[in-house]
Amino acid sequence: MSETMSKIKIRKAVFPAAGLGTRFLPATKAIPKEMLPVVDKPIIQYGVEEAVAAGCEQIIIVTGRGKTVIEDHFDISFELEHQLESRGKHDLLALARQISNLGSIAYIRQKEAMGLGHAVLMARDLVGDEPFAVILPDDVIDATRPCLQQMIEVFDDVQSSILATQVVEGPAISAYGVLDCQPTAKNPRVMEVKNLVEKPKPASAPSKNAIIGRYILTPRIFDVLEKTPLGAGNELQLTDAIRNLLQYEKVYGYRFEGKRYDAGDKLGFLQATVQFALERGDLGPEFRNWLKQLPL
Ligand code: G1P
Repeated sequence: MSETMSKIKIRKAVFPAAGLGTRFLPATKAIPKEMLPVVDKPIIQYGVEEAVAAGCEQIIIVTGRGKTVIEDHFDISFELEHQLESRGKHDLLALARQISNLGSIAYIRQKEAMGLGHAVLMARDLVGDEPFAVILPDDVIDATRPCLQQMIEVFDDVQSSILATQVVEGPAISAYGVLDCQPTAKNPRVMEVKNLVEKPKPASAPSKNAIIGRYILTPRIFDVLEKTPLGAGNELQLTDAIRNLLQYEKVYGYRFEGKRYDAGDKLGFLQATVQFALERGDLGPEFRNWLKQLPL
């Protein structure tokens, strides 16, 4: 990018949160999976905090039926705050207020579950004509520098769409969008995407570089999504639209620094819970001692 060109800021982050959470039944029969707590925080809050830490000013959550509790979570709870204040519980009050102060949050409903691409398309009017982030709340990332922050630094340089990736070994690759890509000379973590395919059979996966739930997308993706036919699972796949975007623009993969947990999956959720609990100053030491004495 030329030095004279002004850098575009990533101000908005879209959170698709309309899925039914069938991988986590029975817990998700009446509770949105995004509200399942890892330690003491709903999984969607990890993503919202990551977006805010990366400088996003507007959070757009794409919800559906049965998800209103997400809105309540990020709203002011007058009764709770009043009670905590009158009982002098200032630490808890600060915690409750911090959540409702996380920035401006807009909600839009995805009336039918027609896929990730369709969920992103729902946010078109709220995003407008500027590059934006997409965060899949299931993917909780433990990183010294927030993953989205790392990606924004790459975006400042390349000014193109960027997909976070991680290496996935073995047949598990077929649960992901997978990149056919080449490392750039400037930074081996940044790869130029040549092609991408949603949930390939292990034998036909173009590489071990799986897309994980962090994207920076240019607004052209909306026009492309409109024209992309339904794909895997008879859904409008974001991966298919990004492949079509390649006809017009470069797209990059970025191997982020940090560890990603699929908290929408029972095993991933347990792993995230243990890891985040161990890192907590107030719980970690005691929890570690308890784990150590388990007869494993
Ligand atoms: C979605 C995307 C897929 C991506 C994955 C990351 O799949 O479609 O490309 O690799 O998220 O978590 P889902 O997990 O919704 O099936």
